[in-house]
Amino acid sequence: MALRGKRVLLIITGGIAAYKSLDLIRRLREKGAAVRCVLTPSAAEFVTPLSVSALSEDRVYQDIFSLTDEAEMGHIQLSRDADLLLVAPATADILARMAAGIANDLATTALLATDKPVMVAPAMNVWMWEHDATKANCALLAARGVGFIGPVQGDMACGEYGFGRMIDVPDIVDAVVRHFSGGALAGRRILVTSGPTHEAIDPVRYIANRSSGKQGHAVAAALAGLGAETILISGPTALPDPTGVTIIRVESARDMLAACEKALPADAAICVAAVADWRIKTAATQKLKKNGGGPPVLEFAENPDILKTLSKPGNKRPRLVIGFAAETENVVENAVVKRKTKKCDWLLANDVSPATGTFGGDANTIHLITADRDEAWPTMTKQQVAERLAGQIVDFFGTDA
Ligand code: C5P
Repeated sequence: MALRGKRVLLIITGGIAAYKSLDLIRRLREKGAAVRCVLTPSAAEFVTPLSVSALSEDRVYQDIFSLTDEAEMGHIQLSRDADLLLVAPATADILARMAAGIANDLATTALLATDKPVMVAPAMNVWMWEHDATKANCALLAARGVGFIGPVQGDMACGEYGFGRMIDVPDIVDAVVRHFSGGALAGRRILVTSGPTHEAIDPVRYIANRSSGKQGHAVAAALAGLGAETILISGPTALPDPTGVTIIRVESARDMLAACEKALPADAAICVAAVADWRIKTAATQKLKKNGGGPPVLEFAENPDILKTLSKPGNKRPRLVIGFAAETENVVENAVVKRKTKKCDWLLANDVSPATGTFGGDANTIHLITADRDEAWPTMTKQQVAERLAGQIVDFFGTDA
């Protein structure tokens, strides 16, 4: 009865996956939760208020203008009376309205008025999920602290295949249980590096790489969500700051290393940043000019390896140091060697060859390599990778004296 005494306001929106919400109500209640449901008008086209009411053993809230709803329980109270607001399935439409702060029906009004945590289980067609508008809405909501559960890859009711399928009901229940058992990393201080670095050529030009920072930021958000004191040391990215982390913005590899060293001691360090291996030996102090003498010759110098530096034995070494390895071939073999060379504890290797769309994309396929494990993870969103990694970090500290 992991959810005993917890009150969940389940907001069911209009997608074909709404039929799964009926099972979700049962499974949440089996774990001891009290489930009160809001049904949007389009959700009521997929599931009947009668079944929702029968399974939740409560009345179903549907209409913001219904006098009885307001008389018995105002929409503000409805959203505050719960310990968690869970939107499942969450359509592209509700995510867009949540992101925009629109309150034009009972569901969105409850979501805007609440002072409680909000989790969403998106469900939509793959093209809708991958549309830039949905991506931007999700990034904004995640940055505001909305917890995402899924979606996953799979066959869709519309006959297409891809990301956008609602994650299975047991996984939603697990995520809710994890949410309420939160704070598993409370008291732990964890550094995360993210994004690319910029290495100056002159005051206006620089060398960079294609890292978006999505994976590193997702890792920081997941750790902060579990209560870790999270220091996110980020190169330049276009991403919003994740909620609950301390962000330190840097430009170059050397700045990033200095910021990491300053942030020590820490219990764990997770190097997700795509740090430039080389910088220009002496960046010009003035803008380089086309002066007829031909293109400039740039001399490179090697950048410090932050992961290697943090992994060096010593009393400031975090107990757990984790690296990521972006590879374009022989992913596992190269990663096994890399973990040993860098002396980090865990290495998450992923294939970033252009065909995978990993750089800048939302999905990632990981091999976790430790001294005694090689785990092949299924293709997941970067957020799911972050959550799985955070779960393993919880296990590590749980068993580490
Ligand atoms: O050697 P490679 O760049 O493939 O190693 C990747 C891992 O090392 C990542 O975890 C990255 O954050 C880290 N790294 C670093 N400093 C560097 C280069 C890589 O921390 N200069």
